[in-house]
Parts: sequence; structure tokens; C-alpha cells
Amino acid sequence: MATVVSVQNLRKRYRRRDPWAVDGVTFELEAGQAFGLLGPNGAGKTSVVKMIAGLLRPDSGTISLFGSDPGNPAARAELGLAPEDPDFPKFLRAPEVLDYFASLLGLDDEERKRRIPETLAFAGLESERRQVRQFSKGMKQRLGIAQAILGRPKLLILDEPTADLDPIGRRDVRALIERLKESGVAILLNSHLLSEVERVCDNVAILARGSVLKEGTMSEVVPEGSNLEEVFVQLIEANQPQRDHMPSFISERQ
Ligand SMILES: Nc1ncnc2c1ncn2[C@@H]1O[C@H](COP(=O)(O)OP(=O)(O)O)[C@@H](O)[C@H]1O
Ligand SMILES: [Mg+2]
Repeated sequence: MATVVSVQNLRKRYRRRDPWAVDGVTFELEAGQAFGLLGPNGAGKTSVVKMIAGLLRPDSGTISLFGSDPGNPAARAELGLAPEDPDFPKFLRAPEVLDYFASLLGLDDEERKRRIPETLAFAGLESERRQVRQFSKGMKQRLGIAQAILGRPKLLILDEPTADLDPIGRRDVRALIERLKESGVAILLNSHLLSEVERVCDNVAILARGSVLKEGTMSEVVPEGSNLEEVFVQLIEANQPQRDHMPSFISERQ
């Protein structure tokens, strides 16, 4: 299998005095594989995908994207990224947003006419006539995913793609991931929805405070009779100071 992304010993901090946001992350992703990058809020997942997408420069370590540097335009053209909090020019409508991305991708008129309506239909936005400023979070997330698949990427990065989606949207994203995998596309998925990750991902890495605590195939990481959520909670709790979760006033008698 061809290696699509390889990251080695990646480190990043945003300011000199900050702790490392990403602290020595190493993994590989192959064609046709779905890789789940998991971890609590602030673990470093978004920072990792931004570095792979060439949007953030690592402090050290190496990234190979289709055998090139992430800054290489040819490599970036093969990548689709659905960001965790997508935003678009607010006075555009969904087809106009996709048309804009189609022009960035260099799609000709014929391809635009075919792909834009089909992508909108997939995203459930085909009859949406309003401007982006009137979209709900979930609708923007749908448009973010639509934009990411428009160029038929060989690597699709989904950063918390289903966080704001309704159950139908989640099912569609799951089906999309399955279909893309079959056609040899590599998927990198950041998600908190562990039952979902467990259904679609072949490999997972669990990240906390910038470091990988556990990595492997789903069956290596999740023992027989357990599930990903159980493994995740145990691992994360074992790696952070124990705390009393409840505010003290909650259980006080009236
Ligand atoms: N633009 C930024 N400036 C400063 N710190 C940041 C910035 N983005 C993220 N961080 C910090 O980097 C760490 C990792 O964040 P992030 O990669 O967004 O984690 P995750 O996606 O796993 O929630 C956090 O401690 C966060 O506060
Ligand atoms: Mg994030």
C-alpha cells in the first residue's frame, strides 16, 4: 500500500512559554485506510492536521504528504480538508461557495456543472437558497465537508466533522468515509464521537497533551469485550491528576 502521509516526531508550540501543543507525534497513513486521531479538548489534534495541510509550520519533525513537503502545491491539490469550524464569505450562497472552491481547484465548466449539484445534494443543501450568514453551525459543517470532497482528494481530513451534525448527517458522513475508503482514498478523522470512530477507522492514535498515549489497529487498541470509549476514558484518566468533577454547591441541600 502507498503511504499517503507520514509524520515523524512532530512538535509545535504556539508561544515560547507555552507547553508543547504537539510533542513528538509520529504516525503513517496509507491509501484506503481510515485513521482516527482521538484525544480530549486541547490534546493537539487540530494542530496536527493543520501542519499536515500546510496551514501551520511545525517547530520540528518531518511531514511527508504524498512524498512531498506539505507546502508543495501538487501535494496539496490531492488533499481535502473539512476544518472543525468552517466559515465562508457570509453573503455567498452554498452553490456560490462551491463555485469559488471549484475555481481554486481549476475545475472546468463541465466538471463544475456535474460536481457542484451532486455535492450539494450529498450535503443536503441542494434546496438551500439563503446566504451563509443565515446558516446554522451544522449547515456550515455540511458545506465544509462538501467543499473538502469537491476536488476528489486522495486524502480527506475531517476535523470533528460530525460535531454539529444531525443523525442523518452523521450517517451520511459515515457512508461517505466507507465509500471513499473502498475507492482507495485515505481518511484522517479527528473526532470525539468514539462509537463512530470505532465503526469506521482501521487505525487509531489516542493523543493527550500533545503526545500519543496509544496507537495501533482498532483490535490492538480495543481489547475483546471492551470498547473504544472505555479504553479512551481509562487511558486519559490515568494520565491526568485525579480531580473531583462536581462543583461543591451542586450536591448541597436546599
Ligand atoms: N492559535 C493558537 N494560539 C495559541 N495556542 C493555541 C492555538 N491553537 C491551539 N492552541 C493550543 O494548542 C493546544 C492544542 O490545541 P488543538 O490542536 O486545537 O487541540 P484539539 O484539536 O485536540 O482540541 C491547546 O493547548 C491550545 O490551547
Ligand atoms: Mg480540534
